Amino acid sequence: MIFIEKEIQTAAYLFASILFILSLGGLSSQESAKRGVFYGIVGMAIAILATVLGKGVEGHVYIICAIAVAAIIGTLLARKVEMTSMPQLVAILHSFVGLAAVLVGFGSYLDPATHKLSSAEHTIHLVEVFIGVFIGAITFTGSIVAWGKLEGKIMSKPLLYPGRHAVNIILVLASIVLGVMFARAEGTDGMMYLYIMTAIAGFIGVMLVMAIGGADMPVVVSMLNSYSGWAASAAGFMLGNDLLIVTGALVGSSGAILSIIMCEAMNRSFFSVILGGFGAVTSSGEAAAMEGEVTALTHEEVSDLLKEAKSVVIVPGYGMAVAKAQYPIYDMVQTLQKAGKKVRFAIHPVAGRLPGHMNVLLAEANVPYDIVLEMDEINEDLPDTDVVMVIGANDVVNPGAQDDPSSPIYGMPVIEAWKAEKVIIMKRSMSVGYAGVENPLFYKPNAEMLYGDAKDSVEKILGFLKM
Ligand code: TAP
Repeated sequence: MIFIEKEIQTAAYLFASILFILSLGGLSSQESAKRGVFYGIVGMAIAILATVLGKGVEGHVYIICAIAVAAIIGTLLARKVEMTSMPQLVAILHSFVGLAAVLVGFGSYLDPATHKLSSAEHTIHLVEVFIGVFIGAITFTGSIVAWGKLEGKIMSKPLLYPGRHAVNIILVLASIVLGVMFARAEGTDGMMYLYIMTAIAGFIGVMLVMAIGGADMPVVVSMLNSYSGWAASAAGFMLGNDLLIVTGALVGSSGAILSIIMCEAMNRSFFSVILGGFGAVTSSGEAAAMEGEVTALTHEEVSDLLKEAKSVVIVPGYGMAVAKAQYPIYDMVQTLQKAGKKVRFAIHPVAGRLPGHMNVLLAEANVPYDIVLEMDEINEDLPDTDVVMVIGANDVVNPGAQDDPSSPIYGMPVIEAWKAEKVIIMKRSMSVGYAGVENPLFYKPNAEMLYGDAKDSVEKILGFLKM
C-alpha cells in the first residue's frame, strides 16, 4: 500500500478546504450552482483519498468495500429521489452525520491511545468526546423526527406540553453533571455516563423538533444542517482531523446563516426556533372558523378571465412541483404575453419543500429570471393586478397569517393574493396545506376555486386560450 507523507496530506486538506469554500460560493446562485457542486465533489474525493492514504490508516480493504457499497446506495437513492422528496433525503443524511459523531465519540473513548494521554490533554479530549456525542445524538434523533414530519409519518402539528422548557433545561443540566462525572472517571469507567447522556441528548433532539409546527419546518431543516456541521466538526476534534473541523465549521456556519435568513423571511425568532419553539408566541393551534362561501369556476371561465385581464400574477406552490406543471405554465405565460398581457411570478421564500424550490422548477422550464419576483418585490403591486392565479400553493397565501392571532402560522409574511381584483386558486380539493391550517382565502368574495391537478388544469386553460 502506498502512503502519503503528512505534509502532502496537509496540503491536500488545504486544497480540499479551498474547494469546499468555492463550492459554497458557487451554490449561492442558480447560474453557478452546478459549478459549486462540481467543486464539492472534487474536494470530497481529494479529502477521502488524502485521509485513506494517510500514515497509520489500516484495513484498506474494509474501507474500500464500505465506500463502494455507500457509493452504490447513494447513487441509486439520488437517481430515484423526486425533487419533492429532497428535504426528507437531506434530513436523513443529516441524521447519518449525527450518528457518525456519536460512534466516533464512543470509539475514541474506548481507544486505548486516549487513556495514554497526559492529564490535561486527556481531560480536553474527554470534553471533546462528551460534547461531540451530545451534539451528534441531538442531530441524529432530531433529523429522524424531521424526516418523519416531512414524509408525513409524524404529525406536522407542534407537540407542546406544559413545562417542556423546564424539562429541557433540567435535562441539559443533568447532562452537564454527567459530563463532570465522565471527565473524572478512571479508564473507561465513564462509559455508563456517556450512554445515559446519549439517551438524554437523543430525547432532547426528539422533543426539540416535535415542538416545531409544520410551517416552521424549513427553518428546522436548515438548523439541523447547521447542527450536523457542528457534529462533524466535533468528530474532527476527536479524531484530530483538521479538514473535518474546517468542513464541519463551514457547514455549521452556513447552515446557521441560512436558518437566520429563513427566520427573517418567516418573521420567526432564530433563538426561539433553535431552542425548539422557546419563547415562541403560543397559539391555540386552531385557526378561526371559516366564514363565507366557496365558489368554483370551469377551465373555460378561467381562460375568459385571463383573456380580459391586463396583468396576471402566478403564485406557485408545492402542488405545482407535485403536478410537474411548470412546463405548461410557461406555455400559458408565453401565450398570455403574446396577447400583450403583463405576466409575472410571485415566489414565497418557503413555497414548496426546499429553499429555492420554485425558482429551480421555473428555471428548469426556462422561465426568464426577470419575470420571477420575490414576495417582497411583488406584494405592493397586487392591489393593481387583475388576476392572481394560485397554482398548488396554500400556506403561502393564507391571510390568517396576518389577521388571525389564533392561527399557528400567525406572523409569517405571506403573498397578499386577496388584494388583487380576482384570485383563482387551482388545487384538487379544499384540503389544507403543509401547516395543516384552513385557508380563509378560499372564502373571500373575490376568490374562486378551480379544482383539479395543476398540470391538467393549466393544459385545459391553455387549450381554451389558444382557441
Ligand atoms: P402547501 O401549503 O403545502 O400547499 C400545497 C397545496 O398543493 C395543497 O394544499 C394541495 O391541495 C395542493 N396540491 C397538491 N398536489 C397538487 C396537484 N397535483 N395539483 C394541484 N394542487 C396540488 O404549499 P405551499 O403553499 O408551497 O407552502 C409550503 C409549506 O411547506 C409551508 O407551510 C412551508 O413552511 C412548508 N415547508 C417548506 C419548506 C421549504 S424550505 N420551502 C420545507 C418544509 C416545509 P390539494 O390536496 O387540495 O390539491
